[in-house]
Amino acid sequence: MAVQRKQQRKQRRGGKEGGARALEAQPLLRQRGKEIQPFGTVVDYPLALAAKSRAESIRALNQILSDTLVLRDMYKKHHWQVSGATFFQLHLLFDKHFKEQAALIDMLAERVQMLGGVAIAMAHDVAEMTRIERAPRGREQVPAQLSRLLDAHELILAEAREAVKLTSENRDDGTADLLMSDVLRTNEMQVWFLSEHLVDTPLVRAT
Ligand SMILES: [Fe+2]
Repeated sequence: MAVQRKQQRKQRRGGKEGGARALEAQPLLRQRGKEIQPFGTVVDYPLALAAKSRAESIRALNQILSDTLVLRDMYKKHHWQVSGATFFQLHLLFDKHFKEQAALIDMLAERVQMLGGVAIAMAHDVAEMTRIERAPRGREQVPAQLSRLLDAHELILAEAREAVKLTSENRDDGTADLLMSDVLRTNEMQVWFLSEHLVDTPLVRAT
């Protein structure tokens, strides 16, 4: 803090180079400060919803959010790294699902904030929190890419179903509705589209 203040005083005085400085217009750069709300804490909004219910919703939402952030990134990884005869259709499909997951992420994160919580956001924090198995850095075969995505979807679906039960019991109907109408339905639809690519069916000659 002391170093920052010294730096800011120096910025106001002007540099050694001696040029005239527009002091009032000078942005105060390279600032840091204390957190105004630590992760895991809850602030109170007039939502007619008990603090305990909101805290439970926030915990469940942040877990689903961290796993959805990883799933979203896995879609982009596979969009780039896909190979073989189905390259074009999977390249497009993976990007479509990426965009749909990105939309869910915004809804989940904003739901955490509107309940008074702090949304998990940065990759290094997400990596510590996610339950999705870490994918290799290199390229995988298409069936492995698809299976890895399906496993991640199933984990998120299981978490979302548990969270629907919890939030419904707590009368956090807004969260329950988001999880049912958006998270569950989107993930179920994407599971269908992926699964059909793993049916070992003849391409040309019926058997
Ligand atoms: Fe692209």
